[in-house]
Amino acid sequence: MPVMTTTFAPPPTGQPAATYDSASPTLTSSEFEQIRRLAYQNFGLDLKDGKQSLVVSRLGKELRRLGFKSFEQYSRHVGSDPSGQAMLEMADLLTTNFTSFLREPAHFDFLRTDFIQQLPPNAPVEIWSAASSTGEEPYSILFTLMECLGPQANVNILATDINTRVLRATADAVYEARAVEALPQGWPRKYFLRGNGQMQGKYRVKSEYRERVHCQRFNLVTDPMPAARFQAIFCRNVTIYFDKPTQEALAKRLASTLTPGGYLFIGHSEGLGGVDHGLDYVKPALYRNGKGGLWRNSAGR
Ligand SMILES: C[S@@+](CC[C@H](N)C(=O)[O-])C[C@H]1O[C@@H](n2cnc3c(N)ncnc32)[C@H](O)[C@@H]1O
Repeated sequence: MPVMTTTFAPPPTGQPAATYDSASPTLTSSEFEQIRRLAYQNFGLDLKDGKQSLVVSRLGKELRRLGFKSFEQYSRHVGSDPSGQAMLEMADLLTTNFTSFLREPAHFDFLRTDFIQQLPPNAPVEIWSAASSTGEEPYSILFTLMECLGPQANVNILATDINTRVLRATADAVYEARAVEALPQGWPRKYFLRGNGQMQGKYRVKSEYRERVHCQRFNLVTDPMPAARFQAIFCRNVTIYFDKPTQEALAKRLASTLTPGGYLFIGHSEGLGGVDHGLDYVKPALYRNGKGGLWRNSAGR
């Protein structure tokens, strides 16, 4: 078992305490439409009919915290807040953040085998985890590659999400012992510190690995694509919340951000069938940007 003697700082505790009355405001159909429009236009979330109870349960508390009596008042506030902060908070509340280490293991098998073999010798590796949630995905990518390439490898992962709370969790990189101890043998000791005292039952990713995961807020629907080119992009289990036109526009934009020969990984329950993106199908949930040597420089070297 890993040995650790220091207690690392506790993760942030989130929202300040507030008192609420327990009655949930009702959501009229025109209020649902307003919230649906805001979520769709600002972060692509396609709130289908039937999602009214999700809206009430996710936003009701926030509405009461802010002292609004109706969803109408709340959505007016979100739509007119010039700082954009209220919209950020709404995105934090409405997005679904479920994730886990080595989720959809076939993708990590592919990284360990085919992907590694195609990397030019000693080339820096730059991968984008484009809806990274609380960090299990980017750290799984990093550890998988470090295992194959060794400790000297120059691997960097860009971890982005629209949700600022999950990005803070990624940067903190504190995880439950249960999840860490289920990782392949040797990984907990190599990549994590075990907490004690207040942090008993938790592990934290060692700083030399945290440094390789660069967290940034990024909205997949509205933000301009990064200038960098990536040998692989993981954009998994997020487009299920988008409609077809949003999925299509995003797939094209992601394709333009891959190196020649670069790979796009999507969730196994997602499909790009019928979507015009210009990528080659490799196998379920995996696409490739033509042929190429995975050099990061688009000139081919
Ligand atoms: C279900 S999690 C998937 C996490 C990870 N990719 C995985 O497969 O385990 C979906 C993530 O997408 C993020 N998300 C939703 N809409 C987004 C948007 N418009 N831009 C960026 N991230 C978004 C959510 O905040 C959430 O963390």
